[in-house]
Amino acid sequence: MAERDPLWPAGTRPSNPHDSAHLHVAGLARYVDDEAEPADMLHLAFGLSSEARAKIVAMDLDAVRAAPGVVAVFTAADIPGANDVGPIAHDDRLLADREVISHGQPVFLVAATSRMAARKAARLGAITYEPLEPRLTVTQARVAGERIEADQHMAAGDAQAALAAAPHRLSGGLAIGAQDHFYLEGQVAHARPGEDGQIHVVSSTQHPSEIQHIVAHMLEKPSADVTVEVRRMGGAFGGKESQAALFAAAAALAAHHTGRPAKFRCDRDDDMIVTGKRHDFEVSYEAGYDDAGRILALKLNYAARCGATMDLSPGINDRTMFHADNCYFLPNVEIVSERLKTNTVSATAFRGFGGPQGMLGIERVCDHIAARLGLDPLTVRQANLYGPGRDVTPYGMQLEDNIAPQLITRLKETSDYTARREAVAAFNANSPVLKRGIALTPVKFGISFTTTHLNQAGALVHLYTDGSIQVNHGGTEMGQGLYIKVAQIVADVFAVPVSSVRITATRTDKVPNTSATAASSGADLNGMAAHYAALAIRDRLCAFLAGAHGCAPEEVSFTAEGIRAGSELIPLADAARRAHIGRISLSSTGFYATPDIAYDRAAHKGRPFYYFAYGAAVSEVVVDCLTGEHKVLAVDILHDVGRSLNPAIDRGQIEGGFIQGQGWLTTEVVEWDGKGRLLNHSPATYKIPTASDRAKHFRIELWDGENAKPTVHRSKAVGEPPLMLANSVFCAISAAIAATNPARRDLPPLHAPATPEAVLKAIAAHKAT
Ligand code: MTE
Ligand code: MOS
Repeated sequence: MAERDPLWPAGTRPSNPHDSAHLHVAGLARYVDDEAEPADMLHLAFGLSSEARAKIVAMDLDAVRAAPGVVAVFTAADIPGANDVGPIAHDDRLLADREVISHGQPVFLVAATSRMAARKAARLGAITYEPLEPRLTVTQARVAGERIEADQHMAAGDAQAALAAAPHRLSGGLAIGAQDHFYLEGQVAHARPGEDGQIHVVSSTQHPSEIQHIVAHMLEKPSADVTVEVRRMGGAFGGKESQAALFAAAAALAAHHTGRPAKFRCDRDDDMIVTGKRHDFEVSYEAGYDDAGRILALKLNYAARCGATMDLSPGINDRTMFHADNCYFLPNVEIVSERLKTNTVSATAFRGFGGPQGMLGIERVCDHIAARLGLDPLTVRQANLYGPGRDVTPYGMQLEDNIAPQLITRLKETSDYTARREAVAAFNANSPVLKRGIALTPVKFGISFTTTHLNQAGALVHLYTDGSIQVNHGGTEMGQGLYIKVAQIVADVFAVPVSSVRITATRTDKVPNTSATAASSGADLNGMAAHYAALAIRDRLCAFLAGAHGCAPEEVSFTAEGIRAGSELIPLADAARRAHIGRISLSSTGFYATPDIAYDRAAHKGRPFYYFAYGAAVSEVVVDCLTGEHKVLAVDILHDVGRSLNPAIDRGQIEGGFIQGQGWLTTEVVEWDGKGRLLNHSPATYKIPTASDRAKHFRIELWDGENAKPTVHRSKAVGEPPLMLANSVFCAISAAIAATNPARRDLPPLHAPATPEAVLKAIAAHKAT
């Protein structure tokens, strides 16, 4: 594919605004709930389980049925085919059947004439449970032997022997909290019965094809009779990869039985209770290291609360293992990943997909070693970086594109790290209550779905005879700017302004059998597929015009002024019209499959990733040691997006990703009570970062290199990697806490998120010794 490179002009790609920016700001961008409602539209609500784990002994839904506005009530018995909305193991029920396995699990479905009527009626269900002892925590699940799959082991070298032989050893650990996606647009879908048993579903989903399959299996229809459509999501962040299916399937079930259109717009509290979140983890480690802080041996244990079903937990926890090295060479390493099954809502995809937890683990190890040796943590990090002769990952993949050392060196200089670290120390020496901390942490994030076959995409491009172009592809738009990137790629092929390209809603009847828009690979995969589709049309135009002008196809060139063929300069519209009269097809599909990847999951060895995206961030914070509150003062980021497809969009992703990571590590608390009830299920009790939490000094610089691999325009994926730059905030807070007792050569026992409570506890423990 590298031979296509000459088609990609060098230099910066334009920062076109998001294709819907003018609609977003004017309130004219249509989301699923904005579609006009037919008069006979039904509105849906779930009756939810009040128990975390119980047998359903009896269900009396008479009062629900009798409630005002109620048209129909459905239970598991009303599902004609598969009662399943799960992505892998098919263990996620649409409606509970004889048992409930988490609090808030949907038990029955109400269809009514209004949303409020449906919600009020859903409260009237009388369900008799026989409660069972729930397993809520990692420890309880471990004791009960409850796992979603066997523990996974990844190893290189001999960690045990190297640990025994190391001059220094330490052990420690931390808890890492979960995170709610808090997409602004909640879960929503509607379904419309069509002609002859067909069904049309409009869903706020990252994965239209999966919803198509789930609805087809549920209603025992061929996939060809189910169409799923999504124009845009108001945010997803992984929370609509598998979780959207529940609501789409409910709408389809109601539409199927009643013959009426049905819509499910989930209430925010229910949304937070019913849908999965980022996995929370308990991490422990044992490290052996030398005087320079080099890691000689490392044992890592990652225990994840996976919740009640499998969902995407295998892939997510694999990615935790893949990122347990981050940018560091581990000659002797053993990584154990425990995937524990608990009676809490099933944990799911969230930006970074397990990678953030893997990385935070080893960043803590670096901080811990530095504390013991009295070194700058950055010195320890740099001593451990991958480099020549130290370039094989724990899963046996040779690193070929390692730019972390240069990138870190440059950021260290441009952020004035050394002088600022001294200034922080000077400040702390004279400030008993306020303590500052600064930290630089790097990111290396593997790009590709680690399930190899998912790395494929399709596109459909039409050139109309007026020169306008329509593009469709398998990727979905969730605010990340995928549509504008793909439109630019297609516009470039024809050398026309991006305004000539109309991107259309993602639909399973236009491009079939798609993967979720996830793993940050949307532009890599769909961009390349659209590129090929556009090239196919362009090649046909070239051949046609060459024939008409008596020149070679290579002598036809697409320029900003028009198409040059022989001595003529032809506008694209004219060329399209002439080609149409010459009976040349002006429509094409395109297909792309990522090359050079293969992974042996049984051995946890191979090349799961096509390439890596790199970055680093310096964060400076101040902690109030009396209240435990903190403020992020300054952030300097240097991030690698290869040759950017759209620098403005990429900067948006970097800033948004960072702030989302900051929220995960500082303010966002997900807690279940002793009965398995979620305590934080509204903005009143769940604190995402706001504009005022963004550091006043926030500088983002893009690395100026290009992708070593021939990706589209030599760009790199950007969606997830920047989230992990926020590890620097957590490490900076830890450094500030350490300053409360500088004589103690140890790491403050800080757990994530670093809420005021967590910070005060860490201070107390750090001062106590
Ligand atoms: N950016 C916005 N604005 N909204 C989102 O929901 N999701 C993130 C990231 N950036 C998200 C976002 C996640 S989890 C992923 S995997 C990628 O976007 C998916 O899109 P991409 O593959 O096109 O980058
Ligand atoms: Mo993103 S967590 O891969 O949807």
